[in-house]
Amino acid sequence: MKIRAGVIGCGKIAQRLHLPQYADCDKVEVIAVCDWDKNLAQQMADQYGVKNIYTNHNDLINNKDIDVVSVCIPNYEHCEVVKAAANAKKHVLCEKPIAMNLKEATEMIETCDKNGVLFMVEQTQRFDPNHEVAKEVLEDGMLGKILSVWARIGHAGPEYWNPDVDWKGGTPWYVNKEQSGGGALIDVGIHIFDLVRWLMNEEVVEMSGRIATLIKPFKVEDHGICHIKFESGAIGGFGVSWNTRPYQVLVYLYGEKGTMRVAFGADPPVIVNFGMPTNVGDPNCGWGTFIPNGRAQSRLGGPIAYFMDCIQKGEKPFISGEQGRKSLEGLIALYKSYETGQVVKLPLKE
Ligand SMILES: NC(=O)c1ccc[n+]([C@@H]2O[C@H](COP(=O)([O-])OP(=O)(O)OC[C@H]3O[C@@H](n4cnc5c(N)ncnc54)[C@H](O)[C@@H]3O)[C@@H](O)[C@H]2O)c1
Repeated sequence: MKIRAGVIGCGKIAQRLHLPQYADCDKVEVIAVCDWDKNLAQQMADQYGVKNIYTNHNDLINNKDIDVVSVCIPNYEHCEVVKAAANAKKHVLCEKPIAMNLKEATEMIETCDKNGVLFMVEQTQRFDPNHEVAKEVLEDGMLGKILSVWARIGHAGPEYWNPDVDWKGGTPWYVNKEQSGGGALIDVGIHIFDLVRWLMNEEVVEMSGRIATLIKPFKVEDHGICHIKFESGAIGGFGVSWNTRPYQVLVYLYGEKGTMRVAFGADPPVIVNFGMPTNVGDPNCGWGTFIPNGRAQSRLGGPIAYFMDCIQKGEKPFISGEQGRKSLEGLIALYKSYETGQVVKLPLKE
């Protein structure tokens, strides 16, 4: 029997990721959608052949036939809705960032654990095939110990991601700190920080950084620059921007034996360069290049197919609530660092 899913929130991420990926996955059927905007819920239900439409998330959560819910609503609502779904014994796939603060994230994790349901945070970058290839190169050990990492993510801004909301008149939730938790850092910074943490595969012990609102008419930051210290002593950093065209996701990893560059849209997207120790006196050391085989699709099939596998096997997902919480923790540390001008040590107290 197929897993039965419900999607809460029919906005942009539901339209661009959750609903199409559910439709492509033969293990699952979406049997309910919910949105405050009934017309939008109806439109998605018609497009994807979904039989139940709700405008109140509790009504969807109380549908006894539903096994798993996708939480695709603004950040400030994640905690309440994830806890309600877990208490109704539904597995939960929650969009990034996990929550607005660490207390909420802890409550969500504990509620899912107490109810024996699986909880995954949808951190899209971990399913990018190029990032999977990069992870395999690192696991192979060919770069040796990684000493430093530099990464950047940027797009044109939330008004380009969601042109349907009223950007002139109101204050859309994306740029209202009370509802989003912050600006570019919490919106796209969470992607790059989570990706860097996953690739480096070690704990972060210190963060520091600076944010700025440079060009957008928003009260939240549109840029950020951040420094990281890892538990091994490795150091790194990342930049985020809401004013970058075209979309950019870029990671450089510098190891004892070589360098890897991973870049969205580049050809090849992943390239590894090794110094050749024979060329003493040549500062370039004579490059040897390795281009790993590319891959068009995620080896896990994407977040929805992967989470459905986890549900069928009863396995905890690799982007667990704890992982989502750690990525949020780093960003909260960065906001603190900017406010105080100090380096902030992790783990943070709640
Ligand atoms: N993984 C990614 O790359 C990615 C990209 C963009 C957004 N997101 C995340 O996805 C979430 C949603 O973002 P979005 O861009 O889709 O937002 P959106 O504003 O386009 O969509 C949210 C929808 O939820 C509805 N809604 C809000 N609260 C509701 C409730 N309690 N019950 C029913 N409907 C409700 C709204 O009417 C709206 O249609 C956010 O947490 C965001 O950070 C993730």
